[in-house]
Amino acid sequence: MEKKTFYITTPIYYPSGQPHIGHSYCTVASDAIARYKRLQGYDVMFLTGTDEHGQKIETNAKKEGVTPKAYVDKIVAGFQDLWKLLDISNDRFIRTTDDFHEKAVQKIFRALYDKGEIYKGKYEGWYCTPCEAFWTETQLKDGKCPDCEREVKWAEEEAYFFRLSNYADKLLKLYEEQPGFIQPDSRKNEMIQFIKSGLNDLCVSRTSFTWGIPVDFDPKHVVYVWLDALTNYITAMGYDSGDDSDYRKYWPADVHFVGKEIVRFHTVIWPAILMALDLPLPKQVYGHGWLLFGDGSKMSKSKGNVVDPVILCDRYGVDAIRYFLLREIPFGADGNFTNEALINRINSDLANDLGNLLSRSTAMVGKYFGGVIPAEQEHAAIDDELEAAVISLREKCDSAIDAYQFSNALMEIWKVIARTNKYIDETTPWILDKDETKKARLAAVMYHLCETLRIVSILITPFLPNTSPKIQEQLGLTESVLGYEHAATWGLLPADAVIRKGETLFPRIDVEKEIEALNELIPNTVPAAEQESAKEPEKKSAEASEGIAKIGIEDFMKVELVVAKVLHCEPVKRAKKLLKFTLDDGAGERTVVSGIAKWYQPEDLIGHSIILVKNLKPAVLCGVESQGMILSADCGEDSVRVLFADGIPAGSSIH
Ligand code: MSP
Repeated sequence: MEKKTFYITTPIYYPSGQPHIGHSYCTVASDAIARYKRLQGYDVMFLTGTDEHGQKIETNAKKEGVTPKAYVDKIVAGFQDLWKLLDISNDRFIRTTDDFHEKAVQKIFRALYDKGEIYKGKYEGWYCTPCEAFWTETQLKDGKCPDCEREVKWAEEEAYFFRLSNYADKLLKLYEEQPGFIQPDSRKNEMIQFIKSGLNDLCVSRTSFTWGIPVDFDPKHVVYVWLDALTNYITAMGYDSGDDSDYRKYWPADVHFVGKEIVRFHTVIWPAILMALDLPLPKQVYGHGWLLFGDGSKMSKSKGNVVDPVILCDRYGVDAIRYFLLREIPFGADGNFTNEALINRINSDLANDLGNLLSRSTAMVGKYFGGVIPAEQEHAAIDDELEAAVISLREKCDSAIDAYQFSNALMEIWKVIARTNKYIDETTPWILDKDETKKARLAAVMYHLCETLRIVSILITPFLPNTSPKIQEQLGLTESVLGYEHAATWGLLPADAVIRKGETLFPRIDVEKEIEALNELIPNTVPAAEQESAKEPEKKSAEASEGIAKIGIEDFMKVELVVAKVLHCEPVKRAKKLLKFTLDDGAGERTVVSGIAKWYQPEDLIGHSIILVKNLKPAVLCGVESQGMILSADCGEDSVRVLFADGIPAGSSIH
């Protein structure tokens, strides 16, 4: 029987600078899914690559005095090396400079033109001659070029346009009929708002630079970089080439993993292009959150606050970094990268929980039975609970993976690991060993430890591909009991397995010393606030003396504001000023406490939509944990009014 296929993609990355841990985040996440699906028996196609055209690359190359191709070649090699280092199991790597891709894009552009979906028009805007760039009114900085701050002039240019405006209704219908198309739901609400605010036709060619794919029937134009880039998902499968068997086999993709900032391109422009070509649409676009720098700002090459994954892998091993990325942040949400969080995770989850369980178990089997667990075993009631937890684990992992929640899958596995460590303390093997009549019981305890580790070793393979064979080797296991189909059946550890304590999986780290060393190696992981105060003391105090300091857009963007609907509201006992809210924030329910009882009765608020500060650290107010803050205006003279956002869907983000 033919295997079921599963096609997953990462965004294709811009090779405009060396890859950082933020790029690794999406690639490691996609890799974990690809590996899990392969484990489950799917015929997986996992695609990643690089998006190599565009003005920025052209400019960077010029600065370095090399051709754009030579410039990208070097950086692309860095991406490929990093994926090798991180054990990424991609089946294909596409470069938009690949000949087959360029040819297919030209054909796609022509097909859209022939169908009337692309037409020739005029592009108007503010033009900066030295930068050769068009800007919109709002992009200008004090009326000047936002890049070089020179004068701009109003200019027109011939360009090709895609009839995106024709697709508004079709896209809204798509979101409605295929509710899982955009995930998480909060991102879907943003897209609905975006489309409802009006879609313009999209300019899909440029004449202001040359580093792109020429429009073959009008070669002074190059194809807009997003049209070029998005089509990679089908050209990599051989669409419109001599051999399109992979396209027919794998397309439509099961899921595109993308960062939240490019959800719009993937859920508006990409499906519209596919609709215009009469091609099937991807089944899902999952917009994941950002890995933020320790101080909460987005990591980016231009800000120079990037964390180098190579340094981290060298110090802690690839699996530790993969584990941290997958476990620390629920997929979909933003999360902070800090050296402290990384080291704490390694110490507690990997060294203490998993590492110790393996070393204790293998050491005990060696000490008590010379490495082979006797077949004569005495079962006890406590074993049943452990067995039940272990054999139900695969199903729990499956459902977490189906929802792309790796952190939940790992959490479930680690619950079993914690339960098993507790089982050792409860069964006290060292006491059983002292009593000759308890040998059969001791053998059963040892069997339970090693059998649990067998199943754990199978289920962690997609996440920790280097660690699981190490565990399996120490347990003396062979392939025949290590498949997905063996991960929900108890009792497959062979009677003659030779169990040997091997190298420590994850050595414990001395937190203080290591943080010091890391801060030296990756100085940018020192919180930005400290760096700034060290660099610019005079400027800081001048700002402070003016009262509230001006903040940059970056600071404002750290505040996550969303529309939320009041599902329920009630007074907080023994707190006259407080009201307790149950809110629907688009992603789920949350409790928020607000000090507005003096101005509002619960019934004034239930059913209304308000503005929520979503990423405020939780605080306990009169015994109730408040997970956010409701915005209201202080209108003076002891009057406070809540800012309502009725009519706007819950989860819509405000910026
Ligand atoms: N080239 C486009 C994508 C075209 S896809 C048809 C692009 N490239 S990018 O290099 O700027 O970033 C791509 C992706 O890298 C993001 O969407 C995200 O998945 C990942 N990340 C880059 N920085 C990141 C963080 N700081 N945190 C999490 N992911 C990040 O956009």
